[in-house]
Amino acid sequence: MNNLKIIKVENPEQGAENVCEIIKNELESGRLNVLGLATGSTMIPVYNKWTASDLDFSNIVTFNLDEYIGIPESSPHSYAYFMSEHLFDKKEFRKTNIPDGMAEDLVEECEAYEDLLLEYPLDIQLLGVGENGHIAFNEPGTPLDSVTHVAQLTESTLGVNSQYFENDEKIPETAITMGISSILGAKKLILLAFGEKKRAAITKLLEGNVTAQWPITKLLDHDDVIIITDLEI
Ligand code: GLP
Repeated sequence: MNNLKIIKVENPEQGAENVCEIIKNELESGRLNVLGLATGSTMIPVYNKWTASDLDFSNIVTFNLDEYIGIPESSPHSYAYFMSEHLFDKKEFRKTNIPDGMAEDLVEECEAYEDLLLEYPLDIQLLGVGENGHIAFNEPGTPLDSVTHVAQLTESTLGVNSQYFENDEKIPETAITMGISSILGAKKLILLAFGEKKRAAITKLLEGNVTAQWPITKLLDHDDVIIITDLEI
């Protein structure tokens, strides 16, 4: 498992500092032009560090992993809103891309997003992981060679997501997500996993067997993966 480099940190804050350092080096070396971004609570300390830093992203094109279907950009539940709030309103980028979950033709939107990814190959992709081992919204059972597609969220993920919604609000059950193959296309992957809830997924990954039941395990087939975690593993 030489392709997985593990950085053990004390807490998410320290993890965010590590990400900041890696991004700084990649920016300075000129290797970073296209950056894949993620949402979720794991990413908040990372984006806080970036916005408080003097990192210059003005030449960087970004692609987000995923977006809920049927949730407008103006809704605090959309990933577009999350990105504006935590990063895009505070730092200048050359161009930011997020799948349009309100698109009339979702299949066309997925194809267009995948085409853009081919045009702008990802230099780095940031990743969190779901408790069930999903990456982006590639849930267990998703074909390992999938590209950007419409995903049905599992009961497990809906349960985790319910904490962000009020009782009378409908939790989105579908999303547009980069596929596992789209993600693996990035030159470098940085996976962040903090807290006991992520232990099962990280343990599966470190067991060393690629299985569609744990999408995270596909990272074993990539040759440049950095795992930043506070878990003793
Ligand atoms: C969602 C996102 C994933 C993210 C996961 C973990 O499912 N689609 O990209 O990795 O949440 O979220 P958190 O960081 O809040 O644990």
